Amino acid sequence: MLNYDSIRHVKGESIFLDDFGAPAGTLHGAVFYSPEAHGKIISLDTSEAEKHPGVKAVITAKDIPGENQIGGIIQDEKLFADTEVEFIGEPVALVIADNPLTARKAANKIKIEIEPLEVITDPKTAFEKGSLIIKQARIYSCGSTDEAWKNCDFIFEGTAETGGQEHLYLETQSALAMPLEGGSIKIISSTQNPTAIQRTAARVLAVSDNAIESEAMRLGGGFGGKEDQATAWAVMAALGCKVTGKSVKIVLNRQEDMRLTGKRHPYVSNYKIGLSKEGKIISYEVVFYQNAGAAADLSPAILDRTLAHCTGSYFIPNVKAEGYSCKTNLPPNTAFRGFGGPQGMFVLEAAIFNAAEKMKMEPRVIQEINLLNEGDAFPYGQKTEFCKAKECWNEAKLKFDFDSVKRETDEFNEANKLFKKGFAVMPVCFGISFTNTMLNQASSLVHVYADGSVSVSTGAVEMGQGVNMKLRQVAAATFGISVDKVKSEFTNTTRNANTSATAASSGADMNGNATKLACGEILSRLKNHYRRAAKLSESDPVEIENGYVISRGKKTDVTWERLTASAYRNRIDLSAHGFYATPKIYFDPRTNKGSPFAYHVYGTAVITVTLDCLRGTYEIDSVKAVHDFGKSINPVIDRSQAEGAVIQGIGWLTLEEVVHNEKGRFISDTLSAYKVPDMGFTPKKIEFLFLENNDRNAGVFNSKAIGEPPFMYGIAAYFALVNAVKAANKNSDVKISAPMTPEKAFMNIYGEKK
Ligand code: MTE
Ligand code: HPA
Ligand code: MOS
Repeated sequence: MLNYDSIRHVKGESIFLDDFGAPAGTLHGAVFYSPEAHGKIISLDTSEAEKHPGVKAVITAKDIPGENQIGGIIQDEKLFADTEVEFIGEPVALVIADNPLTARKAANKIKIEIEPLEVITDPKTAFEKGSLIIKQARIYSCGSTDEAWKNCDFIFEGTAETGGQEHLYLETQSALAMPLEGGSIKIISSTQNPTAIQRTAARVLAVSDNAIESEAMRLGGGFGGKEDQATAWAVMAALGCKVTGKSVKIVLNRQEDMRLTGKRHPYVSNYKIGLSKEGKIISYEVVFYQNAGAAADLSPAILDRTLAHCTGSYFIPNVKAEGYSCKTNLPPNTAFRGFGGPQGMFVLEAAIFNAAEKMKMEPRVIQEINLLNEGDAFPYGQKTEFCKAKECWNEAKLKFDFDSVKRETDEFNEANKLFKKGFAVMPVCFGISFTNTMLNQASSLVHVYADGSVSVSTGAVEMGQGVNMKLRQVAAATFGISVDKVKSEFTNTTRNANTSATAASSGADMNGNATKLACGEILSRLKNHYRRAAKLSESDPVEIENGYVISRGKKTDVTWERLTASAYRNRIDLSAHGFYATPKIYFDPRTNKGSPFAYHVYGTAVITVTLDCLRGTYEIDSVKAVHDFGKSINPVIDRSQAEGAVIQGIGWLTLEEVVHNEKGRFISDTLSAYKVPDMGFTPKKIEFLFLENNDRNAGVFNSKAIGEPPFMYGIAAYFALVNAVKAANKNSDVKISAPMTPEKAFMNIYGEKK
């Protein structure tokens, strides 16, 4: 039985940041944030907070020794607002006290006077007013849509909207900064990106990168919410540490986390789709208005992925996709599982749904005939290789029998008035690699100790996705020893430098490959050592299998432990550093052409729902999918990733509704107002069939990235619900605006086309 992290989780033994014993005398920080969504700061009075018993310091922008700037892609985000505030929740000051409650109480005593400015919360309004993160449009195109319209038998236009999504990781944003000697600081934080914290802290504190040691232990979930947005709190803790000379800890409480941090980007999109009478998509134009919030954060990169995924799992010869990152007075929205891909795919599914309805076809007929084939080019120029779109679809069609799903749904709906069923099919194609080519690099530092135990350090951060286990498996498989011999270490910038975020589903792929390289180097030293000791020639085959040396095809009695101990005594280096840069990928951001993805992951899901027509509530009856898992390293982890992702995807499109008022204040900032799928809502049946393959362009040992792709199957739940609503009222004028909350389902059943 493999020693999974989950066993430690269940026993309560796993150490998260807040469990970690902070040094004696650690102080605690509370963030004072803007109560207004937009305005000029007229005055800031921290005197009452400073006088509050137990308060050690109140830190504002003027206490920053270096730059008051934490922007990653664009330099447009201050650590602390100084002259102007741009969203409710924008940090203005940090109160440091001897306990968290005192710090929060004192923060409440800070007075800020703000002269209000116009508040924009809607991306289209922002666009019309010229409030953009980047002024120019991002455009991905191929063929000529202008030319193609005349060849279309049908042309339809429409709008589709998708909402935000709260990450709701179990562990809220947290950081602990500790002073080291010589002005250095060690930061432990709940981040997907320790290097971003190292660099940003160095910049804010005006020290060099090597003065900051940044570590992530394990995260109680990240889901993209800690790729960029763990940085502010960690840097604030480091600044607090610099100012007070003491360790400083910041742990946001749930409501602060929900108010202060960004979410999945809501989008409003306009599309125009042209088809032949058979349903072939000839031309597609789409304009995406991304609600970026008040600063860039990762928005431009997310918009790029939206554009790259706007044709989903289909081949469309003429495409023009245009995107705008619209600046609004909301917290900067950020990475969230799928990274803009889901938003892009949703719009095309809405267009297909609309076209199918008008053409009196089933959407799945249009979906099927437009699926990608081997060698088809995406609008960004890359051609499919080992394309699995049709294989997954055909397998799903066969195994789950779409025709009988249709028949059963119709029969049910004939026989029932108060409940209606609906189903939809969703094919997914998701590109694996960071869209920014530079980020596709990883390193691994492997130590084999003299007793034969192994330590693996990489830039990968464990956040529940099982990357630590996969890395242990990669090392164990490369050495030919048991997984129990291998430990994955916490992620630390002094062991692995210049790391990329653990994101883009590529953590196991890239860090696994780096680990394989490092282990391979040590292994070859060990083999040579054995050859020398056993007086073999250089070309004699030596292997290690199941912890024993196999010499010239014969098992010896030399164990791995004996070999490593002997190597140590003979002064053989038992450590190695492996570096991996994803080969062959490139992308030109000026032309938006290239081959940005190492490979694509495919799959097809069918989701069935039952709608209660009196209440608007619904149940997800089943999720059935054929998914391209590649050659899975760990089917248990991969299956649970797939199940978790699809449930999270369904949540985004159904229950989860991020609501703010026109003043930019979140009103869904508690778990009584913000609903997520719980055990009761979880689909009654989830079935993932593995489309196993051994594609050589894939990840480590030909496994495939799994973290994000299945999220997008959730889109089927939305259209299944629209179908159920239409079964209840065929004249219902359903506006394609996700999520389809029970309230919206109810209103849609009883609202008619005007
Ligand atoms: N699974 C769990 N349990 N918790 C998480 O935070 N994050 C997801 C996915 N699966 C996440 C998760 C996201 S957004 C990504 S990009 C990948 O895991 C990152 O990990 P990987 O690259 O190792 O797959
Ligand atoms: N995916 C996820 N995170 C990222 C990416 C990406 O493509 N680019 C930068 N951060
Ligand atoms: Mo995942 S959104 O790439 O962290």
